[in-house]
Amino acid sequence: MTSILQSNITITPLSDVLGAKVTGADLSKPLDAPTVETLTQAWHKYIVLIFPDQDLSQSQQLNFAKHFGDTGTRSRRPEQRPEGANYNDGIMLITNVKDDKGRYVGSLPDGEMYFHHDMCYMPKPHKGTMLYAIDIPSTGGNTRFSNMYRAYDLIPDKLKKELNGRTALQVYDYHMTQTVDIDGDLTGIHNLSQPIFVRHPETGRIALYVNRLMTARIDGIPRDESNAILEELYTISESKNNYYEHSWTEGELAMWDNYCSCHARTDFPENERRLLRRCTLLGQQMIAA
Ligand SMILES: [Fe+2]
Repeated sequence: MTSILQSNITITPLSDVLGAKVTGADLSKPLDAPTVETLTQAWHKYIVLIFPDQDLSQSQQLNFAKHFGDTGTRSRRPEQRPEGANYNDGIMLITNVKDDKGRYVGSLPDGEMYFHHDMCYMPKPHKGTMLYAIDIPSTGGNTRFSNMYRAYDLIPDKLKKELNGRTALQVYDYHMTQTVDIDGDLTGIHNLSQPIFVRHPETGRIALYVNRLMTARIDGIPRDESNAILEELYTISESKNNYYEHSWTEGELAMWDNYCSCHARTDFPENERRLLRRCTLLGQQMIAA
């Protein structure tokens, strides 16, 4: 297929915090270089892009993602994944839908989920995530996206100085509303210390890089003090004026920058279907600011 110049793209900010809606783009078709450049610049500026009214197969979603870098692949083999073998290696379903044997056909099924950066406990976290909405409940299941550049800017200077050059332990144990207990045995649980302040490799801007779900402690200071500082940082990053809450519509694709934003999910009715299709963009080692 030849690539298409989609010159009728319109980019409209969604809030003062972050996010923009992109209309006039058909993501099922290949994009030409100027269009990709326009979208890349918008992505870096707005952190989260929402593309409404898309009709995407899993391979079309992956092909769109590949305009912005290499896509991630699942670590589990096809027969170990809840989706089964019918899905591409780069696709994960986020869903509470069950098969006829009562097993979930995807991951992260029901309920609220705390703010987090995807894969921050890995040496090279994903640089971006793309989520395509297929079935959306009548209420709830919203995604809150927080602006971690802005959170960094709002940290008092004294605390910034105290935290400069420090790292925090990132751990994930598949809970959705509970930070892992690091006094327990961490064998087999992904964990890694990352800089607390990171420099975005493409924009050069500094972002706060801790989150309620996965950050277990600040390294090298007493636990009580670490807990108090983390709570102070979350008070800034999770405050209502630091996130945009997206209420999904079926057919939307969201693309977010995982270096400078966190995301969280609000609760929704368990008896309603929620099905979104996720793929990711590979990233690099985090850069200490
Ligand atoms: Fe996530």
